[in-house]
Amino acid sequence: MAVTGGILFVFVVAHLLGNLKVFQGPEHFNAYAEGLRTVGAPFFGRGWVLWMVRSVLLASLFAHIWAAVGVTRASWRARPVAYRRLDLVETTYAARTMRWGGVIIFVYVVYHLLDLTFGRVNPSFVPGDVYHNLVASFQRWPVSVAYIVAMVVVGLHCYHGLWSALQTLGLHRPPTVAWRRGVAGGIAAAITAGYVAIPLAVLGGVVR
Ligand code: HEM
Repeated sequence: MAVTGGILFVFVVAHLLGNLKVFQGPEHFNAYAEGLRTVGAPFFGRGWVLWMVRSVLLASLFAHIWAAVGVTRASWRARPVAYRRLDLVETTYAARTMRWGGVIIFVYVVYHLLDLTFGRVNPSFVPGDVYHNLVASFQRWPVSVAYIVAMVVVGLHCYHGLWSALQTLGLHRPPTVAWRRGVAGGIAAAITAGYVAIPLAVLGGVVR
């Protein structure tokens, strides 16, 4: 979970940094999207590196889901009978919503690909004009609201994921314990704020 989560986390951060280029205007943003397809040229052909990255991401996603199923089963085996009374000690909302959060993010990514990559649910998809597609999508407020809710779920998932991945990878002794939660929370909040800024900017007319 920790290693595949780490790979997906790096994508989420890199994707955010790339998407923030939308604030530089259509030329920069579309050039960035085009640049993703020509990374590695002239050594690699068009889209080769992109497809290598996509393969690693897809493999990490399925390995992450597989690990989540394993962890869930182990947890259910350890406590086959439900608690009659549950006092919540040493847990957070983010920790308790990891499974449903993961399902929501999966559904979100499927919609997101149909929206901005394949254009199937986009109101006026123009291949290659990524800026236009993004604005067209976020101008419909229910879509923006759904994205914002999904970004909060992504933030919660990253918060607990980061916190526990750091523990799995060995940072579980003092003094790390004292700052691990704060660092995970700060990074997750920055990720959510960065992503949420984009649909808000379209709704507010800053990006149009
Ligand atoms: C406001 C938030 C987001 C915006 C504006 C956004 C924007 C975009 C755009 C414009 C594309 C198409 C890029 C292209 O065709 O060149 C894209 C693709 C993609 N996005 Fe996002 N994204 C957001 C959040 C997320 C999040 C949180 C995730 C993951 C949890 C994600 C996962 C993906 C994936 C997997 C692709 C396909 C990449 C590929 O195969 O080329 N996105 N996104």
